[in-house]
Amino acid sequence: MSSISNVSENTPHLLILGMGGTIAGLASNPEENPLQYQAGQVGVDALVAHVQSVVPEGVKLVSRQVANINSRNLTDAHLTSLGLTVKDALLDAAVQGIVITHGTDTMEETGLFLQATCGKLAHTQSKRVILTGAMLPSNAPGADGPSNLLDALRWASTSIDNCPGGIYAVMDGRGCMAIDLAKRHATALNAPLQNAPSSSVGLINPSWLSGVKAVQAAWNEDLPIPQEGEWPWVEILTSHAGARPETITQWLSSSVQGFVIAGTGHGGFHDDWLKPLDQAMAQGIALVRTTRTGAGATLPNIPEIDPLGCRPSGSLTAPRARIGLQLALNAAKQANKAGKPLTWQDFFARIADLPEIR
Ligand code: SIN
Repeated sequence: MSSISNVSENTPHLLILGMGGTIAGLASNPEENPLQYQAGQVGVDALVAHVQSVVPEGVKLVSRQVANINSRNLTDAHLTSLGLTVKDALLDAAVQGIVITHGTDTMEETGLFLQATCGKLAHTQSKRVILTGAMLPSNAPGADGPSNLLDALRWASTSIDNCPGGIYAVMDGRGCMAIDLAKRHATALNAPLQNAPSSSVGLINPSWLSGVKAVQAAWNEDLPIPQEGEWPWVEILTSHAGARPETITQWLSSSVQGFVIAGTGHGGFHDDWLKPLDQAMAQGIALVRTTRTGAGATLPNIPEIDPLGCRPSGSLTAPRARIGLQLALNAAKQANKAGKPLTWQDFFARIADLPEIR
């Protein structure tokens, strides 16, 4: 672990965890072509040092590099390591809040993962865990990383009365619950939370806050973090015009444990997939339906009766549903080992049926 300002780890502080991303990116010719760059090049110490002189007085900062990657390369192992680090920090009395600098490409997956595995703990410990990132590399003119990091640090250090402990994200001056992240624009500065219910981080919106409290009241128990190497294998398959049965049948001899269908419209899939998907479920492969449209919920038995055992994803996007299914399969396995007759559907429903913030 590295410390900024020689802060002892027993002194109350904010912990900044570096995962990489564009916020830590460097362009080779930033003036001419800021969008041609390598993500995950600058250490989190340097990112924090850059904003340290403007953090609120008295706030001590400690940073730790967990990874320094382009988040498109995020692995199950990275999530295990981040989740365990966050859990430890939430239980550490000296840590007042946690900010995570992360690539925006898969912030959506990490947001769902942290809510499902650490959301209850963050709430009961009254600590905010805040994901942030950037759409422009650190050396681009007008780079958005420093202001995003500063907003996240300010928010993480403000009184808990302003907004309860929990798992959040900040980009472009706005904050949202991390489970609502979904990158829906390739370049806009607010891309990961463009479609998310959100609030200005400077002035928390009361109606958003009551939505946050409803989600937190409904989230009763964190799911276990899968150990490295124990993550179930789950794939996302997109239904489209001209879809072929082979897209499904080719998996049937593999050890895949779950499919998330990014379906058309209400989350339907091509009729040519019906038979092979039935066969997949008969083999024990878990099936979740979601919509590829980018917005709106996937509901049970809409538009047709669901095949037995198939679960619709509610408002979860396909990337979020994939992480949710991995965690649900792992949680069911752990529960069964402990003699509890719970299914992956039981655990998945806890995530998919959380109230939506309007
Ligand atoms: C990444 O996700 O690491 C690259 C893209 C970004 O951070 O915006």
